[in-house]
Amino acid sequence: MVDVAVLVLPAANRVYAGSAPSLLAAELAVLDALALGGRLSVPAVEVLGGVPYVTFSGDLDAEALAVVSNASSLYAVFEREGGVLRPVAPARLERWDEDLVTIPRYSGKTNEQLTRLLLNLTVAAAAGSGAFTGRKLRVLDPLCGRGTTLNVAALCGFDAAGVDLDARDVDAYVHFFTTWLKDKRAKHTSRRHGASTTVTFAPDKDAAKAGRTQEVVVVAGDTTSVVSHFGKSSVDAIVVDLPYGVQHGSHSESGLRRSPAELLPTALPAWTSVLRAGGAAGLSWNAKALPRAEMIQMLEAAGFSVVTGDGFAHRVDRTIDRDIVVARRPR
Ligand SMILES: C[S@@+](CC[C@H](N)C(=O)[O-])C[C@H]1O[C@@H](n2cnc3c(N)ncnc32)[C@H](O)[C@@H]1O
Repeated sequence: MVDVAVLVLPAANRVYAGSAPSLLAAELAVLDALALGGRLSVPAVEVLGGVPYVTFSGDLDAEALAVVSNASSLYAVFEREGGVLRPVAPARLERWDEDLVTIPRYSGKTNEQLTRLLLNLTVAAAAGSGAFTGRKLRVLDPLCGRGTTLNVAALCGFDAAGVDLDARDVDAYVHFFTTWLKDKRAKHTSRRHGASTTVTFAPDKDAAKAGRTQEVVVVAGDTTSVVSHFGKSSVDAIVVDLPYGVQHGSHSESGLRRSPAELLPTALPAWTSVLRAGGAAGLSWNAKALPRAEMIQMLEAAGFSVVTGDGFAHRVDRTIDRDIVVARRPR
């Protein structure tokens, strides 16, 4: 049993306007429950030397270190002994350079750290600690925009699939991703069939020959068509940032501004069907446009069981209070 202190990524405080340490504590508590069977003490925010850390105690074996290391806004991990902090090398999932998720900048982009937080909670609900120790999962973003979830999932070594109504966003994503792969001299192929593009990639020729490839499939289409594109029970996790019901920059089509309450009744049956039994869906949304209790009711009516509590709500701006929920499709 060791005492552990986790330092929060400085950039996270800008993203979450000061809620980053408490969000990290909430994330670690849920990851512990879903992936480690609740073997860590309840994480707390503690100020050490004037800087906020998240602290807890537990047995930091290889499995627990893999889970803790992947927390979305983790900067550094330390073992604590009295007043001394001893650095521990984290075991992160990242397979590619981080600029895959930081280079894209556009109006309406979902923050990449929030996306990693949602991905972490969702894959933990779908696959336990295996998600952090090399089990290859397939992650779908059924409202993928210009691909933040796809990039974050690919960064972690997962396969990814995405759908968006806005064909310009899908084209911009494919262009960005294939250019990025070229710049990184990664071995890759890109095939287009109608509205669907499949990119297969590996770090180099040897990895490709040995079958250590990843795949991203992205489709321009309505989210209700996910089953016809990907098949029933074909994904382990759904990670999605719902339209906020407010206008972003130049996006003016009514479909892009729809509130989550309008979209979910038709989308949820399709999402349930594309998800494998035991898989999980993680959603972030504007709680000013749809109260949390109504979101939970909709998920339960669609057959999901909610596995996260209410520690993740945070203010984004005057019009958006963002919240997160993760729910499992029963086996
Ligand atoms: C909050 S944005 C997602 C942004 C994305 N995570 C990113 O970082 O680029 C929501 C997306 O839902 C898409 N959308 C809205 N209704 C849709 C529908 N019925 N089918 C597919 N996509 C839809 C919009 O085009 C928009 O890109």
